[in-house]
Amino acid sequence: TRLATQQRTIGVLVPQIQNPFFGNLFRGIQDYIYNEAIDAILVSTDSDQRKAHRYLEHLIQRSVDGFIIATQLDSQDPLLQKLQRMHIPYVLLDQNEGDEVGDQIIVNEQQGGHLVAEHLAAVKQGPIILVVPQQQSSNIQTRIAAVRAGLAQHQIPAAAIYDYQVADLTKLAGTAVGKQIMADFAGVSALTIWAVDDEVAIGITKAIQQAHKQIPATVKLMGYDDTDYAEYLNLTTIHQPITTMGHKAAELLKERLEDPTRLRQVIINDVKLIQRGSTK
Ligand code: RIB
Repeated sequence: TRLATQQRTIGVLVPQIQNPFFGNLFRGIQDYIYNEAIDAILVSTDSDQRKAHRYLEHLIQRSVDGFIIATQLDSQDPLLQKLQRMHIPYVLLDQNEGDEVGDQIIVNEQQGGHLVAEHLAAVKQGPIILVVPQQQSSNIQTRIAAVRAGLAQHQIPAAAIYDYQVADLTKLAGTAVGKQIMADFAGVSALTIWAVDDEVAIGITKAIQQAHKQIPATVKLMGYDDTDYAEYLNLTTIHQPITTMGHKAAELLKERLEDPTRLRQVIINDVKLIQRGSTK
């Protein structure tokens, strides 16, 4: 039997499905659409612009009714403009702050960065290391700038802060940079590390263990996101309401499908500090 005609299909683009942040996000979307006669096609773009474009084209050809886009796209992106021309609604979230057309779910990164800095200043031991991505989406730029501004406000001199970079937000990249940090600070008996997300922080824990250092006695470690693993690894982090963001994105898209002319909606979410054993 064919689907009832009112059944809709949406496309969901995420940059890295193996990162539980995006898995949780999709769960929130799914939870909502399950009861709303909407199906989803999920694609993971590997943070690759060409793949994002190709998937968008394919899904447009398949006549999907709308999109939820968590993969970073420039606000001038030709594909976003194509969606606008074709009146295909989309909701942007997380890594897309610039676009001023589509409905949007954003997170208060300013608040998140300040909470990170406040906590680092309170628990810090030895030098502070910030592990940040080489390529930064605008939300992550805001987050990192707020961390730096917050540390300065807490009178932590720039000379006591060291930057390390990861090529992408994966556990593998986290372990690689962690090994480098452990080698560079081998003789140091106290260290404080903040990683830009939990995936990278989890990767770093492996390098810390391999260097036979103790968390938190020797190394205090903090992440960002509060994905499922953070709780089980006792990782201090910043909680982003990830599943709720997915839920709200799906709700905004559904409402937009029903009322294409309503005012543009932007929902801003707060974050909070979750203090666990890794910074005790
Ligand atoms: O884990 C993925 C990270 O990149 C999160 O911090 C999220 O906000 C995204 O931009």
